[in-house]
Amino acid sequence: MARIFVTGGAGFIGSAFVRHLLATSDDHITVFDALTYAGRRENLEPLLDDPRVTLIVGDVANRDEVRGAIGGHDYVAHLAAESHVDRSLLDPDVFIRTNCVGTNVVCDEANQAGVQRFLHVSTDEVYGSITTGAFSEQDPLTPSSPYSASKASSDLIALSHHTSNNLDVVVTRSSNQFGPRQFPEKLIPLFITTLVGGGNVPVYGDGTNVRDWLFVEDNCAALDAVMRNGETGTIYNIAGHNERTNLEVVDALLDCMGLDRSRIEFVQDRPGHDYRYAITTTRTNNLNIAPTRAFEPALEQTVRWYLDNKQWWAPLTTLVRNR
Ligand SMILES: NC(=O)c1ccc[n+]([C@@H]2O[C@H](COP(=O)([O-])OP(=O)(O)OC[C@H]3O[C@@H](n4cnc5c(N)ncnc54)[C@H](O)[C@@H]3O)[C@@H](O)[C@H]2O)c1
Repeated sequence: MARIFVTGGAGFIGSAFVRHLLATSDDHITVFDALTYAGRRENLEPLLDDPRVTLIVGDVANRDEVRGAIGGHDYVAHLAAESHVDRSLLDPDVFIRTNCVGTNVVCDEANQAGVQRFLHVSTDEVYGSITTGAFSEQDPLTPSSPYSASKASSDLIALSHHTSNNLDVVVTRSSNQFGPRQFPEKLIPLFITTLVGGGNVPVYGDGTNVRDWLFVEDNCAALDAVMRNGETGTIYNIAGHNERTNLEVVDALLDCMGLDRSRIEFVQDRPGHDYRYAITTTRTNNLNIAPTRAFEPALEQTVRWYLDNKQWWAPLTTLVRNR
């Protein structure tokens, strides 16, 4: 039995990760989360009834709060972040505070508390855009948005604690995720909830931007495997192997929901919009990590979840912020 400190555990991926840990281990989990607009106590229901789960409301950039909570844990899984690219264009300061300062504080306090292993959860967006081919973990970082720049910086901060302070750090860089409980300002839930509400889906530019889509449960299994079995000081790309243009994603959603293309509305592209993300997976292949879910059935499952859980997302639509 291990004790795992999960920052950002009330968010989309963090809460799925807690679900995964409870279902696959006898570990005890402390969720440390500031419960920002994106962190929802209801994401952890009914998990909070499980005696193996504790929620501590705290801010990763507040050293005293982190210090008061992190002691006695074997692993830290650091997912807390400001995560929405559009918001980073409107208000970058909070991204630097949470993603950069917060990562430094959690690494430093983890080290002082004698944590055995630190999983730093990052994104393929740190590599920037690539027209053909795919980025490996050794490629340089060329982030485009304040979000991806703050994540790239946080990766370097976490790795510096490995090099300079001997903290046992592993870093993951996952591709774009989708699944239940994703905040309704992100592309797939934004499109689903807009369509349910009778609106048209806003597609940036001409809709040819490409993303590699990864079902959140596959990502959580991969994070767990890297956390337990990854090599110290090493970065692991985690891909979905489901490259789709944004228009292909919309078409698949319209198909799932029995709607036609008259519901698409092209809107002005956002500045610095990366054209395509793609990553290689030699390192995760070597750990026998591979996604198990095909895109279309996982998308159908996701659509079904949003149709069945309007009480979860309807109150959140007033908090949605896009450029
Ligand atoms: N969503 C994706 O497609 C994707 C892809 C690759 C990597 N990631 C990374 O995975 C992690 C989780 O992403 P997500 O999509 O679940 O994000 P999310 O926005 O749904 O959740 C973020 C969580 O962090 C918490 N948080 C924010 N600021 C905090 C602070 N100062 N102190 C403590 N907690 C704070 C929020 O309350 C929330 O629970 C992030 O680090 C993100 O960069 C996300």
